[in-house]
Amino acid sequence: MALWGGRFSSETRNEVTQYSESISFDQRLFRHDIAGSKAHVKMLAARKIIPAATADAIRAELDRIQKRIESGDFRYDIAMEDIHMHIESALIDALGAEGARVHSARSRNDQVALDIRLYLRDEIDFLLTEIRHFQRALVEQAAANPRAILPGFTHLQHAQVVLFAHHMLAYVEMLDRDAERLSDCRKRINVMPLGSGALAGSTLPIDREMVAAELGFDRVTRNSMDAVADRDFAIELANALAIFAMHTSRLSEDLILWCSQEFDFVELDDAFCTGSSLMPQKKNPDVCELTRGKTARVYGDLTALLTMCKGLPLTYNRDLQEDKVALFDALDTVKMILKVYPPMIETMKIKPERMRAAASDPALMATDLAEKLVELGVPFRSAHHRVGAYVKYCREHGLKLNEASLDQMRETIPEATEEFLTLFDPDASVAKRDITGATGFNQVARQIAYWQERLA
Ligand code: ARG
Repeated sequence: MALWGGRFSSETRNEVTQYSESISFDQRLFRHDIAGSKAHVKMLAARKIIPAATADAIRAELDRIQKRIESGDFRYDIAMEDIHMHIESALIDALGAEGARVHSARSRNDQVALDIRLYLRDEIDFLLTEIRHFQRALVEQAAANPRAILPGFTHLQHAQVVLFAHHMLAYVEMLDRDAERLSDCRKRINVMPLGSGALAGSTLPIDREMVAAELGFDRVTRNSMDAVADRDFAIELANALAIFAMHTSRLSEDLILWCSQEFDFVELDDAFCTGSSLMPQKKNPDVCELTRGKTARVYGDLTALLTMCKGLPLTYNRDLQEDKVALFDALDTVKMILKVYPPMIETMKIKPERMRAAASDPALMATDLAEKLVELGVPFRSAHHRVGAYVKYCREHGLKLNEASLDQMRETIPEATEEFLTLFDPDASVAKRDITGATGFNQVARQIAYWQERLA
């Protein structure tokens, strides 16, 4: 008979047991479930709700159960539904009636809310460390290649020349906001729900603040119904994970383009690529492609959580058991990404000479001509028009922008001087972008130093 079987006269159907179990996925909460129970019984004893000796015995037995689970010497049985029931049953098996006191003033509804919060808190701390590694790998690539210039793109068309380092640091910024989002979400996760009971709190004189302090929470939840019903913190986390995955997916797309034969800007280490079973010459950037693919999974997890919650009447409904499936999948996927990317970025070989060859297309410097005209007092819109006309002239005459003579240039840009003919140098173009946030050598060196110090 199940722990809740008192009012039932027939056993649960087999299919229903299978349908409703969560032990297959919530067993990973065992450490947090045990930590929560240990704090709970310590408080129960302090409030004289259970004898101190019982609390000590339960805490010692919980430690033994944890060791058994860690060593694989613990049998799971779907008849016991979830990790909470498994650990409680093991306690009762070992301690009899004394063990059966652990669940005083507690429901699985507040217990599972507590466990998830404890678990997610640890996961976020781990993710934050890993994101720093990822950022460091990008910063080191930037620092190792401070003069590599490549074409920057908008609409996937050549736009202006930029530094490879600037491109890397763009992702460092994105990852930094991802870390910020996680830390921010952690604040709302770090609130202690235990004591909310099933939905209405408890008649027993428990000390929730003591449990919160014991488990390192910032404070206790203020409303028992909210505490057992809502999973907004899980949705926030899934959202932060989805945005992180989106960022890595974009990085992946850049890398996929860059290692194509058409670009040939970088080469990923063999350890991060796979071959074709048919075409002997192939080396494919599968890790990057998989990241684009897996990002879709993380979006799915976020959508599942949002959808799961939108129609639920207060308070706890069993639908919420599914939160863990989505959350764990999103976390596992992101943790895999974070395992693979730092070493893949660190070992990536960049090809500065190929980048430079692409960056020497003088059309990339057309904006510099327009800005030179602005310096000479021409209103920007007219400057833009003149340079546009010059681009058209060159196209019609089969010339690159740096191949026309000054006289030819003056047909469309009357203000052009000798200096205009020197504006097609990619290095000079980059160097001139010397304002905060721009791709100039000085500015990017400043940013690299900033990140190296911050991530040290
Ligand atoms: N297995 C459940 C879950 O993961 C635990 C809470 C169940 N509560 C209940 N009243 N059935 O959400």
